[in-house]
Amino acid sequence: TIDQKVDSLLKLMTLEEKVGQMNQYNGFWDITGPAPKEGNAAEKYEHLKKGWVGSMLNVTGTEEVRKLQKMVVEESRLGIPLIFGFDVIHGYKTLAPIPLAEAASWDMEAIEKSARIAADEASAVGLNWTFAPMVDISHDARWGRVMEGGGEDPYLGAQIAKARVNGFQGTDLSQNNTIAACAKHFAAYGFAEAGKEYNTVDIGTSTLYNMVFPPFKAAVEADVKTVMNGFNLLNGVPVTGDKNLQRNILKGTWGFDGFIISDWSSIGEMVPHGYAADLKHAAELGALAGSDMDMESYAYVTHLADNVREGKVDESILDEAVGRILRVKFELGLFDDPYRYCNPEREKSRLYHEDHQSGVLEMAQKSMVLLKNEGGLLPLKKNQPKIAVIGELANDNNSPLGSWRLGSDDNTAVTVLDGLKKYTQNLTYAKGPKVFNEDANFLNEVQVNETDRSGISEAVELAQSSDVVIMVLGEHGFQSGEARSRTKLGLPGLQLDLLKAVHKVNKNIVLVLMNGRPLTINWEAENVPAILEAWQLGSQTGNAIAKVLFGDYNPSGKLPMTFPRSVGQVPIYYNHYSTGRANEVPIVFWTHYSDEKNEPLFPFGYGLSYTTFGYSDLAIDSSNQSKIKVSATITNTGKVAGEEVVQLYIHDKVASVTRPVKELKGFQKIGLAPNESKRVEFVLTNKELGFYNHQYEFVVEPGEFGVMVGTSSGEGLIDSFVKK
Ligand code: IFM
Repeated sequence: TIDQKVDSLLKLMTLEEKVGQMNQYNGFWDITGPAPKEGNAAEKYEHLKKGWVGSMLNVTGTEEVRKLQKMVVEESRLGIPLIFGFDVIHGYKTLAPIPLAEAASWDMEAIEKSARIAADEASAVGLNWTFAPMVDISHDARWGRVMEGGGEDPYLGAQIAKARVNGFQGTDLSQNNTIAACAKHFAAYGFAEAGKEYNTVDIGTSTLYNMVFPPFKAAVEADVKTVMNGFNLLNGVPVTGDKNLQRNILKGTWGFDGFIISDWSSIGEMVPHGYAADLKHAAELGALAGSDMDMESYAYVTHLADNVREGKVDESILDEAVGRILRVKFELGLFDDPYRYCNPEREKSRLYHEDHQSGVLEMAQKSMVLLKNEGGLLPLKKNQPKIAVIGELANDNNSPLGSWRLGSDDNTAVTVLDGLKKYTQNLTYAKGPKVFNEDANFLNEVQVNETDRSGISEAVELAQSSDVVIMVLGEHGFQSGEARSRTKLGLPGLQLDLLKAVHKVNKNIVLVLMNGRPLTINWEAENVPAILEAWQLGSQTGNAIAKVLFGDYNPSGKLPMTFPRSVGQVPIYYNHYSTGRANEVPIVFWTHYSDEKNEPLFPFGYGLSYTTFGYSDLAIDSSNQSKIKVSATITNTGKVAGEEVVQLYIHDKVASVTRPVKELKGFQKIGLAPNESKRVEFVLTNKELGFYNHQYEFVVEPGEFGVMVGTSSGEGLIDSFVKK
């Protein structure tokens, strides 16, 4: 068995070789964190040959992977193959929509397929491990990394985590087109104070257990092979050094049998956090806490063996970590054939494969959310007289690829303009004012023009002489992602000014939004008749958007994150708690803002279609208390076929630990022809009705539960039942 093989290999290993397996180095070109203070290429090669490196990140291409693998397999004493990790976040070359956009599809089959495509391409370039999915729940649109996650809800997040792990890992990890997944960042990284990257996290038990953990637990249940810890402090302890999180909860209670990788230099960062005295102490704390592999801190490779020799860390800790790492390498088939991912023919044939292109196109269509469609302006008629397309992003083939796409080639997205041209030649284009610097990239801040207004008047003239105006506005792809926190959530630069100027002369505006996070778009939502949330959709951006705008695909996405009315409302999320003064009273003493509504602009779960859906006949059958059935009839009341995500929310009205006012506990995406009805049924078991209390126990408490079945978290049919 694999366990026996691992045990016999462990017996052959020296202390240094064990530490080596726990050490991961960055490659020689791409970097995804601050340049390390220690280490250089020559030293890395030396260490590789000595067997002091267990894994490389950011090394890609069959040739380069084979070269390093060969060095280790042939020159190190035991020849233990390396595992090659990379951030394959939403594709390798062929790019799917950013994960937040995919989450908006609420289509788990599609999400799994998208991860499969990513794994197929990544494995073809020699990789066997992705640092995805990021399953961090976040309530804060200021935090740039919301683009990389599944949104604000733990239930939806858990389904997505499972789908993505299954997609990456497939059913047989030893196949050469499946790769190990990594659920990250354990835990609570998405709760950074004020949405500021890498910031402190201070949250209570209930939030940690009921909001943050579920997607991680789901990933573990889906047999995720690795978990990454994170940069953040959680309640005063860096998660990388948190024994309770890693050893007790993840490896203990949940029975996670893969390995834990640190985040980039997060072991070393325990020093500036004020938790470790120096790098040696950090190595000790990291290993004791259960962090099995050190990404780029040089802490383990430099100090861990000494820590063992000095009795600070027991060698059994290393055996446990190395055992976990070796097991994954065996499961990947690396011991059978260390070069199984290094086939140059496969590399050539799989990258940008046409099946992948059609796959990500499908995913992109499903990811869009129709936010407004007054007067049925959309879909556009194919013989539309004259269309003006306005906005720098409409003609951008780079930014819509989104952030976190290290493997891809720049400038490979189909632009909106090119997508539209496949439907009509009767269009003209104006760029409007400059918005972003052309050379914006993964490592630099995006520059935004706030002053040069040239281009506005030309756009206005064009709009004046057109029947419909399609305005493509939003964020740059690199304005979200890691280290891209923002304090302002409106359209960057002069884009709102441009929109207002156009609106003065032509109100027939379709606003296509591109963004990696919820935006504050109050004026837009009030004044523009049609708004399509298109996020950053990846390689097939323009084709997908054109299909939706011209009605060849009926939008069916729903928001996976609340859209606030103002930054001051953030953090804002649908599954909040009630206060003691939740209801309006004639005087001021109730929970509200003096200058803004409590409600968001668009709630979680919201999204329109080109058709309409009616909800009726909500019924609850609680006769079998272990399987409470909730059903409702959904009817397509419009004129075209469409898909609806039917959502089930519950409210545990009185509990020993207060429960949120609403919690998503089920959803089904159904297709309906005009006038067609379907009865949709959900089953509530103890799993959905229970929660973790302050003693960390999962409890199901008797009492009244509110139920809502609806089209979003803000609207639905309401009833209740009693759990005995
Ligand atoms: O996987 C990432 C992580 O999410 C953030 N820091 C760097 C890692 C490797 O690139």
